[in-house]
Amino acid sequence: MNKCVLVTGGAGYIGSHTVVEMTESGYEPIIVDNLVNASEESLKRVEKITGKKPTFYKADLRDRAALEKIFRKHDIGAVIHFAGLKAVGESVQMPLEYYDNNIGGTLVLLEVMRAANVKKLIFSSSATVYGDPERLPIDEECSLSTTNPYGSTKLFIEYILKDLYKSDSTWNITLLRYFNPVGAHPSGLIGEDPKGIPNNLTPYIAKVAAGKLECINVFGNDYPTPDGTGVRDYIHVLDLAHGHLLALEKVTDAGVHIYNLGTGKGYSVLDMIHAFEKACGKKLPYKICPRRAGDIATCYAKADKAEKELGFTAVHGIDEMCDSMWKWQSMNPDGYGKK
Ligand code: NAD
Ligand code: UD1
Repeated sequence: MNKCVLVTGGAGYIGSHTVVEMTESGYEPIIVDNLVNASEESLKRVEKITGKKPTFYKADLRDRAALEKIFRKHDIGAVIHFAGLKAVGESVQMPLEYYDNNIGGTLVLLEVMRAANVKKLIFSSSATVYGDPERLPIDEECSLSTTNPYGSTKLFIEYILKDLYKSDSTWNITLLRYFNPVGAHPSGLIGEDPKGIPNNLTPYIAKVAAGKLECINVFGNDYPTPDGTGVRDYIHVLDLAHGHLLALEKVTDAGVHIYNLGTGKGYSVLDMIHAFEKACGKKLPYKICPRRAGDIATCYAKADKAEKELGFTAVHGIDEMCDSMWKWQSMNPDGYGKK
């Protein structure tokens, strides 16, 4: 297989971890990222880990000429498409920007891929496309719906990709529906670096552990879950990165292939706080607050399909997730610095 793979959004959180894994497995990742939510420093860190300077183009996916140039310059065999805006709350405030960036960017990418006859794509979808899940654990056949513009961009892109395949059955498209990605590289050199106050639970906990925020707000303790707090399927970013390599290697047939990437296990908000306390060696202050609008009680994957067809199993547990996040937070109190 051609080892030259375009990685959109490769300077971001999941992208940078995947680029490390790809480089260590003999791939030649070509990164395109406009750095709207990333820093070039992440790529310097990738170089530190792998010993190889990644090929990087600072470009927006909607810049067709820039993309065409990259496809002319490199003999690209496949694309892993991470690039997109991902903050749920922000998407409610800025729906047009989200549709334009996520869907507009994907359309340009697909047109340029088609013109270059590159028809193998792995797309970052999300468990958000299951909306309020029809059943648990969530399998790939569960009904799809969304509750916010961010989720809608993911679902619409899935529809676009399915329609594309219907129109041309030579495409080989893999939709990876991630559950809740957490954790960092064990080196402590790369990790999640959210802008401002984090919206997601685990980066928020890390900031409280570091003394940068005062107290964890637990959004609701009256859900129908064992301890009343929300339950999610947290998956280590290293496992997620590995899942992309398996998808690149194992999915060789044309078609639209859909996989959940999760662990199949659910942990509550309090479980995560206690696991993080173990990792950082101190008690963490938290208070119970009202539920956050739009949240669901429980979400975890049925992970068998990815296991059977890709050979994917998440191997990193909750302690490794928290240990690595704490190492990343401690070594980089201000993340990568200014974005
Ligand atoms: P991230 O923000 O760290 O990475 C996305 C990258 O895309 C950033 O580096 C950003 O600068 C870049 N980007 C955005 N718009 C672009 C554009 N128009 N042109 C070029 N580059 C652009 O996010 P992440 O957590 O690494 O997520 C990667 C993908 O996985 C996203 O599509 C996200 O929606 C999806 N996803 C993430 C999660 C999660 O919790 N992190 C869960 C499910 C799905
Ligand atoms: C959120 C997004 C989802 C996205 C996912 C990954 C919402 C409604 N959903 O999922 O679309 O795919 O991130 O980026 O934003 N919690 C607290 N206190 C906090 C933060 C969170 O108690 O400060 C709780 C939440 O209520 C939830 C759990 O922690 O039960 C996980 O929350 P979060 O990390 O934001 O992820 P999701 O809501 O699952």
